[in-house]
Amino acid sequence: MKDDNLRMYLIAITSLGIMWGCSSAFAAEKRCTAGGEKVECPTQTDAQVQQAAKAFEKETDDYGKGKGGSAYGIAPFDYLTGVGKKASSEKGGFTDTKTGKTDSGYGTTGSLRTELWDRVKNPTPGAGVYDQWVNNWSPKFGETLVAGADPIQGKTYYYSYCIACHGWTMHGDGPNAVDLNPRPRTLTRGAYMQKKTNLELFNVIKGGGESVSLSSSMPTWGNVLLDQDIWNVIAFIRAMQDVPPPKSVEDYLHPKSTFKPIKGDVDALNASKSKDFKEMQELVESDMPGRAPGSELTGGGFVEGGNRINASDVVLKVK
Ligand code: HEC
Repeated sequence: MKDDNLRMYLIAITSLGIMWGCSSAFAAEKRCTAGGEKVECPTQTDAQVQQAAKAFEKETDDYGKGKGGSAYGIAPFDYLTGVGKKASSEKGGFTDTKTGKTDSGYGTTGSLRTELWDRVKNPTPGAGVYDQWVNNWSPKFGETLVAGADPIQGKTYYYSYCIACHGWTMHGDGPNAVDLNPRPRTLTRGAYMQKKTNLELFNVIKGGGESVSLSSSMPTWGNVLLDQDIWNVIAFIRAMQDVPPPKSVEDYLHPKSTFKPIKGDVDALNASKSKDFKEMQELVESDMPGRAPGSELTGGGFVEGGNRINASDVVLKVK
């Protein structure tokens, strides 16, 4: 994907989000369930989502004008490192706000060095930039909190399909959040997420908000992501529990989750033997486009393309 195409792609997911955001007003009532109890949904404040939307707009606008900025908007590496932004003068002049050190703009002060620094002077062509970013310049995980699921794979789906609403670091402040009512969930909120079972997360991701009596602004992903992909996304979500917005590159690359697997919960390894899982999946699928009788998408097949890979191609790199 060329940079421009990538940008268009991001804009496309942004506007799709707006389309999906056919908002209906919900008061701050207790609509969400965690551990079977009705609770207030964890979301960002209006001010926070407005600020996030403005930052995104500015970044993409700057990028479009060739003023640096970033096709990725408010990606963490942008605000942490200034990657993609032009140095204030050709000869250098980017000042690290923390250390006060002036950098040439290409990562000579050690901690600021990233493989993406060279993007301004010597851009990586096409899809390479995206691959570099997703594979090298994003959180790293050495283990999984969901048996049989790979948070590293999950991360790539999350970046493709979820950031526009849920935000780069899952804080519910993606560029579309401002247009959505109810707001997208802050997926890192431990007090809430620790009580939410994998089964509940699986259902809402696969079947969409409406399948669990939440807003239809939360799309149905079951025709885009295979079940194993959804498990991988859940592993990524679990890996980010209570992880605050990063203050340093180190924070960002090595998030520390507080999540403890819930006793007796379904996971990617035992799902095929779980009666609860089977029942819930039948219910969720009975309402899904292509699966529900008479619905538009014929054949019940998956939408081809995108970032999806076959379950058989999923190699679990983590224990
Ligand atoms: C178009 C915007 C949008 C996109 C894209 C989106 N979501 Fe959501 N999501 C929402 C909204 C809005 C809610 C809150 C629904 C409500 O409160 O009724 C939500 C809620 C959720 C919830 C919480 C459900 C609960 O019970 O608390 C999870 C989990 C979730 N989304 C995961 C994802 C994942 C994973 C992806 C990507 C595969 C994704 N979302 C993509 C808008 C979106």
